[in-house]
Amino acid sequence: SPAELEERFDATIAADQRIEPRDWMPEAYRKSLIRQIAQHAHSEIIGMQPEGNWLLRAPSLRRKAILLAKVQDEAGHGMYLYAAAETLGVDREELTEKLIDSRQKYSSIFNYPTLSWADIGVIGWLVDGAAICNQVPLCRCSYGPYARAMIRICKEESFHQRQGYESLLALANGTEAQREMVQESTNRWWWPSLMMFGPADGDSPNTRQSMEWGIKRHTNDELRQRFVDMTVPQAEALGVTLPDPDLRWNDERGAYDFGEPDWSEFKAVISGAGPANRQRLAHRRRAHENGAWVREAARAYADKQAARAEA
Ligand code: ACO
Repeated sequence: SPAELEERFDATIAADQRIEPRDWMPEAYRKSLIRQIAQHAHSEIIGMQPEGNWLLRAPSLRRKAILLAKVQDEAGHGMYLYAAAETLGVDREELTEKLIDSRQKYSSIFNYPTLSWADIGVIGWLVDGAAICNQVPLCRCSYGPYARAMIRICKEESFHQRQGYESLLALANGTEAQREMVQESTNRWWWPSLMMFGPADGDSPNTRQSMEWGIKRHTNDELRQRFVDMTVPQAEALGVTLPDPDLRWNDERGAYDFGEPDWSEFKAVISGAGPANRQRLAHRRRAHENGAWVREAARAYADKQAARAEA
C-alpha cells in the first residue's frame, strides 16, 4: 500500500541507507534530486568553457597537457551526472534542452570570464577547492547513483585543486609581475567562489527539506565557513591577500569571521545577467546544434541494428 511504501522510504532514510532507482520514492524527492543533479551536470559541462579559453594559450606543453586532462575530466563528470539523473526517469536530451532554454540553472561561478593565465590556477585553487568542500558530503547522499558518482568525481576534483595550487606556487615564486597577476586574479575570484555555496541559510528555500532527506548533509553557510577556514592558511602560504577587510580569526568560535558576499550580484548572475551568461549559453547552444548530425547518425544506426535483430 502507498502508506507502507512511504514508511519503508522514511525508514531507509532514517537508517542512513541508500535509496536506489527501483525503490519507491516521494515525487518531491525525485524532483528535487533531478533539479540538483541536472544543475550539477550542467555546471560541469558549462564549466569547460572558461578553462577551454586558455587551452591554446597555456604557457608550456606540460601546463597544456594538464589543462586538457582537466577539461576532459569535466566532460566526464557531466556524463556521470547526466547518467545518474537518467536513473530518475528523465532523458539527457530533455535536460540539455532545458539548459539551453534557461529552464534549468548551472553554477553562478562559470559566468565569470577568465582574463589572465593566473585565473586558471585560481580556478583550480578556489573554485575546485569550493567544489570539493561542497561535494565530499554528497558522497554520502541518500540517493545511491548520485552518491556513487560523487566518489570518483571528488577524487578527480582533488587532482584539479592540487594542479591549480601548484601552478600558483610556480607564479608566486616567479617575477613581481607574476605575483601581481595572482593577486589580481584572487581579488576577482574570491567573492564569486564564496557564492558557489548558495544563498545564506535564511534565504535558502531547499536546504531544510534536502537535509531531512539526506541529500544535503550540511547547510550552505556551514560549508562556506569550512571553505574559508581551509583556504586562509593556503592564501598565507601563497603570499596573497584575500580581498575581505572583515576576515579575521575568531578565537571564541575557533573559526574565521568574514564579510558578506554581495547577494545582489549573486541574484543577477543566477538570473542570467552575469558577465558571461549569454556567451556561455550561446556557445553551448551552438555546440549542441553542431552535434545534431552525430545524434542523428547514432539514432539511424541504432534503428538499423534493431531492425536487423527483428529480421
Ligand atoms: N549557482 C547557481 N544557482 C544556485 C547557486 C549557485 N552557486 N546556489 C544556489 N543556487 C540556486 C539553487 O539551485 C536554487 O534554485 P532552484 O530552486 O531554482 O533550483 C536557489 O538558488 C536557492 O538555493 P538553495 O535553496 O540553497 O538550493 P540548494 O539547496 O539546491 O543548494 C547547492 C544549492 C549548494 C548549489 C546545491 O544544489 C548543491 O550542493 N549542488 C551540487 C553541487 C553543484 O551543483 N556544484 C556545481 C558547481 S561545482 C563544479 O561543477 C566544479
